[in-house]
Amino acid sequence: KEIKIFCPATIANLSCGFDVLGVCLDNVGDEMVVRKMSAKGVRITKIAGADLPLETEKNVSGVAALAMLAQVETDFGFEIEIYKKIKAGSGIGSSAASSAGAVFGINALLGNPFSAHELVPFAMQGEKLASGSAHADNVAPALLGGFTLVRSYDPLDIIRIESPSELYAAVIHPQIELKTADARSVLKQNIPLKSAIAQWGNVGGLVAGLYTNNYELIGRSLHDEIVEPLRSVLIPGFDLIKAAALENGALGSGISGSGPSVFALCKGRETAHKVAESMSSVYDNIKLPYEIHVSPVN
Ligand code: HSE
Repeated sequence: KEIKIFCPATIANLSCGFDVLGVCLDNVGDEMVVRKMSAKGVRITKIAGADLPLETEKNVSGVAALAMLAQVETDFGFEIEIYKKIKAGSGIGSSAASSAGAVFGINALLGNPFSAHELVPFAMQGEKLASGSAHADNVAPALLGGFTLVRSYDPLDIIRIESPSELYAAVIHPQIELKTADARSVLKQNIPLKSAIAQWGNVGGLVAGLYTNNYELIGRSLHDEIVEPLRSVLIPGFDLIKAAALENGALGSGISGSGPSVFALCKGRETAHKVAESMSSVYDNIKLPYEIHVSPVN
């Protein structure tokens, strides 16, 4: 009566889609074991690889699990072991992986009373604890896989987006921690109509490009003139990393989630590795430690 789960990392925003677009990294993530226990409730019994609270109400997995269990009758409870590989504050959905993993695992042990879509609001409660905002652009792709769009938050309406098979992401994580709450505090609450027009044009272009396997259109649409200029100053060497990625064949590049990780979407595994190397050499040159990932995304 236990389940071992892979909890994937995710890239939120994808440049133009702040708080609405996200994609799952197929081969980067944590592991989690969820098991039934006779006592009711949720206990986090082990966390390896990170210094995170074990108290259920202070842990994103615990909070997401409790939100779910408030909606379903059980006469037993659940123990959770978390093996973190995704670093907190890295910008590739560390809290989302834990929140999504907990509700996915419990749902499976209960015989799947909830659909993957129905699990999203529970996992969002973990995000709310982590960053103060219940955004869904990491938890939705973590739970549904591939690319997802939050068409609406109220009512919640999540759409899974088809994507071409040859898409890969290269993601570089400079070894600094950037809290999502801090990266959100630099944002403006209002934007000029001109910027909004550019942004929704690109969101539409990106979604159209993903559906029609149009790699050039995907690349042209990976732009963000609203959030990236305000946040990129928090990321060491951002302009150099992005330029290196584009020069070496990336379709587009931008901040992963709230940063400091920077992603590049590429057509084909080989290009993705070449792009990853070029991004790495920027940090090698300035002697900044980093972690680099290359993953299929679809
Ligand atoms: N959309 C969120 C943000 C993602 O950019 O603040 C955080 O991972």
